[in-house]
Amino acid sequence: DNLCDRVEKGLDEGLLPVEVFRDDTVFRAEMERIFARTWVFVAHASEIPNKGDFVLRRLGLDKVIVTRDDSGEINVMLNHCRHRGTEVCHHDKGNARTFKCPYHGWAYRNNGDWAGAPHLKDAYGGPLDKKEWGLLRAPRVEVLHGFIFAALSDEVPPLREHLGAAAWMFDAIFGLHPDGMKVIKEPERFIVKADWKSGAENFSGDAYHVSTAHLSASLSEFIPGVNQVSSVACAYDMGNGNSFIGHALPKLIGPEFEFWGYPKEYRDQFDLSSLDETQIEMLKTLPPTIGTLFPNFSYLRFPQPDRPGAMPVPFTSIRVWQPVSPGVMELWNYELEYAFLPDEFVEKCYMAGQFGFGSGGIFEQDDTAVWEGIAKVANSPWTRSKGMKLHYQQKREGADPTWKGPGLFYPAVYGENCQEEFWRRWLKDMKEGKSEQNGGNQ
Ligand code: FES
Repeated sequence: DNLCDRVEKGLDEGLLPVEVFRDDTVFRAEMERIFARTWVFVAHASEIPNKGDFVLRRLGLDKVIVTRDDSGEINVMLNHCRHRGTEVCHHDKGNARTFKCPYHGWAYRNNGDWAGAPHLKDAYGGPLDKKEWGLLRAPRVEVLHGFIFAALSDEVPPLREHLGAAAWMFDAIFGLHPDGMKVIKEPERFIVKADWKSGAENFSGDAYHVSTAHLSASLSEFIPGVNQVSSVACAYDMGNGNSFIGHALPKLIGPEFEFWGYPKEYRDQFDLSSLDETQIEMLKTLPPTIGTLFPNFSYLRFPQPDRPGAMPVPFTSIRVWQPVSPGVMELWNYELEYAFLPDEFVEKCYMAGQFGFGSGGIFEQDDTAVWEGIAKVANSPWTRSKGMKLHYQQKREGADPTWKGPGLFYPAVYGENCQEEFWRRWLKDMKEGKSEQNGGNQ
């Protein structure tokens, strides 16, 4: 809480205490005050298309089973038995009508209801109450363009209301076809020795690193013009810790790169009837290419070749910065594509995404390597004793007053406005969560 005060003072001066990126107390507080209190992405509906389908995911530090139950409803349930707490499900995905605990054999239906136990009459005299002894369930679950979000608090506003201006951006990115998007293959996951916020903050507005951290991509000519990426970038601050970077792709690569460069025959099948004029103009000139929804959901759609020398194709990646422990995250990389697109084109998009941002991709290696240094310095007795602060003082231009969309539009990406937006939301949740905890203790 003392750190919150220092973060608040620091942000007013364009400074950030370095220990926010790795600290036991901060990490625990984040789990309680952020991840247990707000909407968090857990899975995509296309991963569980049939009744009985399930995937095993995380919500904060907890493993959750995300199911489509026998009635077709989506459920997000804690993966721990109500008898003694053992993990009930040990498969990453599958199809099941029930989950049976490996310890004493209690069973649960795929909607979480308690379903039975061995030796029922002798041990318990009859069945237990199916709701009272069912798996714990996230009280709020909502789906937006196929993306399943859950909240552990009943107090959260409806998802679209919570996202506010960011929902407008979400519609422009993911709502272009009535068949929606689908996850291609399994999401990749790998451990990175960096704090979850390093990824989330970077994707919220850091185009500045591209010409240095990703220089090798430019030298290999894998991505044309990558070292000019920051100079043709803009920022969309959608408020509430949510923001996006846009790129003038037609200017950077070529006029055919409106709408991220989807080939015309596919672009013609997009249904733009629900979008407003500003959204359509944005997708033609400065499409959002990168972004973060607070706390740990990031988005990336950028044209890349699927092999050196090939014509770039857009790939879509969702990156979840899953907290594991202070200074350690598990990075989940989902690749998605519009469901109506032919398999051959989807495969190209998938390969393009893998070459750049798969676990062995050239961009991915660059980013994770530099982020790990932040977690190291954040834990240094030297930096802590000296109160080391990080620099958030780039020269700022104001927001564009002629912008007709929601939120704020910055014609340049310099200024670190969106990073500040991320940290202001972090601070708000950490302070409000503290008040709630205090209230609860009284
Ligand atoms: Fe699950 Fe006992 S812990 S049945």
